[in-house]
Parts: sequence; structure tokens; C-alpha cells
Amino acid sequence: MNATQNQSLLARREEELTNEVVQSFDGTASPRVGELLQGLVRHLHAYAREVRLTEPEWRYAIDFLTRTGHITDERRQEFILLSDVLGLSMLTIAINAPTDPDATEPTVFGPFFVGDAPEIGYGGDIAQGAQGEPCWVEGQVTDTRGEPVAGATIEVWEADEDGFYDVQYSDGRTAGRARMTADPEGRYGFWSVKPAPYPIPGDGPVGEMLTAAGRSPMRPAHIHFMVSAPAHRTLVTHVFLAGGDHLDDDAVFGVKESLIQPFTKQPPGAGPGGRTLTGRWWKLVFNVRLAREEAV
Ligand code: BEZ
Ligand code: FE
Repeated sequence: MNATQNQSLLARREEELTNEVVQSFDGTASPRVGELLQGLVRHLHAYAREVRLTEPEWRYAIDFLTRTGHITDERRQEFILLSDVLGLSMLTIAINAPTDPDATEPTVFGPFFVGDAPEIGYGGDIAQGAQGEPCWVEGQVTDTRGEPVAGATIEVWEADEDGFYDVQYSDGRTAGRARMTADPEGRYGFWSVKPAPYPIPGDGPVGEMLTAAGRSPMRPAHIHFMVSAPAHRTLVTHVFLAGGDHLDDDAVFGVKESLIQPFTKQPPGAGPGGRTLTGRWWKLVFNVRLAREEAV
């Protein structure tokens, strides 16, 4: 056998191996699980063949994923971060986004949501010690025809002016997050702090990957929203500070034009919610349009 014949024999063996592994999942009870597993095998094998994966590279990848698991706990989710910087989170969001073009666009969830945020009323303050310039945020939750969604649940979370979420503080306190309920007209309003750009956590395997790639770890300034109501699609999104840095090179590809909104500068004095401001403050109006739950 000459070298060319040997090459084509080896290539055929590689393909036969892929087919054998794909077929090993033929008996999967759930057709969808079978589809997911067989697609995974096909694409993983195609990737290994395309890049001609070496054994040291395979070992490095195993070690990388092992370290990703070890650094993950209930306050740090390195796998979500990995999905985010690979653009997989945003691709999954795009695939599943509501088809209604009038719905507020979704974006990445991120690793810093906490389920038991304190409940606040209209005009309450989510900062609770998070440092930053005061920022009043208000808006109305409607459906895509403009009908108010009374009683919608709104959860918000944001980093402080130094770019840290409370879950990154060493003292375990809660700050920069809250849950509230929209009024009968769907309106909400709360005090917060003006968001700042920040780097995603860089001290784990994902940071190592960004450094190796020469990629920026920065995210543009934003406030996270999760808005839910019966019979409506739950919306996970952010509002981004117009004119801020890194709108064009978000480390997790989360920026959408429609989510960039002006934060307007306000002079000291009386502000909303009965608050008197001694220095300048900011105001943001962010109206949310929820899609109807689609029939299944
Ligand atoms: C965030 O905005 O909180 C975030 C999103 C993705 C990765 C890291 C942080
Ligand atoms: Fe964030």
C-alpha cells in the first residue's frame, strides 16, 4: 500500500468510527435526546478531524474543562461564562427569541443573578450600599400591542461603580439587586446607581482563554432585567448606557442596538420617589414590551 492509499484508509476508518458512535445512540428512548447526542458526536468528531486534534491538545481540553468545573460553585458559574465568551449563549437566545418583532429584545443572562433578591416597592432603592452615582430608572411593562401588563414581576441586578456584583463581595451582603411588582398600569420605578463597564471574571480558565486570544474581557455598562408575567414570555435582557465604552466589543456579544438607551444627567435637588439629591444624578426610561406566550 502506498502513502496515498494508506491516507484514504485512515480517513475511512475515522469516518467509520464516527458512524459507529452515532449509531450507538440509535436506541435512545427520546427522539430529541437522540438528535442532540448524535448531532453532538457528529460535530465533535468533525471538529477533531478538521483541526487534526493532537493528544496533548485533547489532554489540555480535558484539564481546561476540569478546572472550569472546579472553580464553579453556587456563587461562580464558569461554564455559563465559557458559553458566553464562545457566543453560544447569544446564539441560543437568538434561536429561541420571540418571533414578534415588537417585543423587547433579549440578551445574555450572565452568571450573577441571584433568586432571592429583596422585594422593593415603587421608588425603592436597589443600591443598598452599592457605590455609584444615583440613577432613577422608570418605565412601563406592556405587551406588544401596548396593553399594560399589570403586576408583572421585574427583577433587576447590576454591578457597582467599580464593576463588582454583590456576589463578588467578600462579606456576603446583598446590594445592587431587587425584585418589584409593576403597578396596575404596568409602571415601575426604582433608584439604582449609574452602571459602569467592567471585566468579566478573569481569574479562571475563561480568563486564561481570553488572554491567550488577546481578547478584551470588558462588558459595556448595563443594568440587567428579568421581567415575567402569566401568559407572557419571560424576558431576560439588559439596558445599555448609550455612549458608553465597549458597546462595540462586548466580551460576551450581548449588545443589541435596541437595548442602548440614553441615561440623562440631572441637576441636584428634588428627585423622584421623595428623594433629595445633593449631587448630580441620572435618569433612564426603559419601557418593556413582553411577547405573548406562544401556543405549544
Ligand atoms: C453580566 O453581565 O453580568 C455577565 C454576562 C456574561 C458574562 C459575565 C457577566
Ligand atoms: Fe452584568
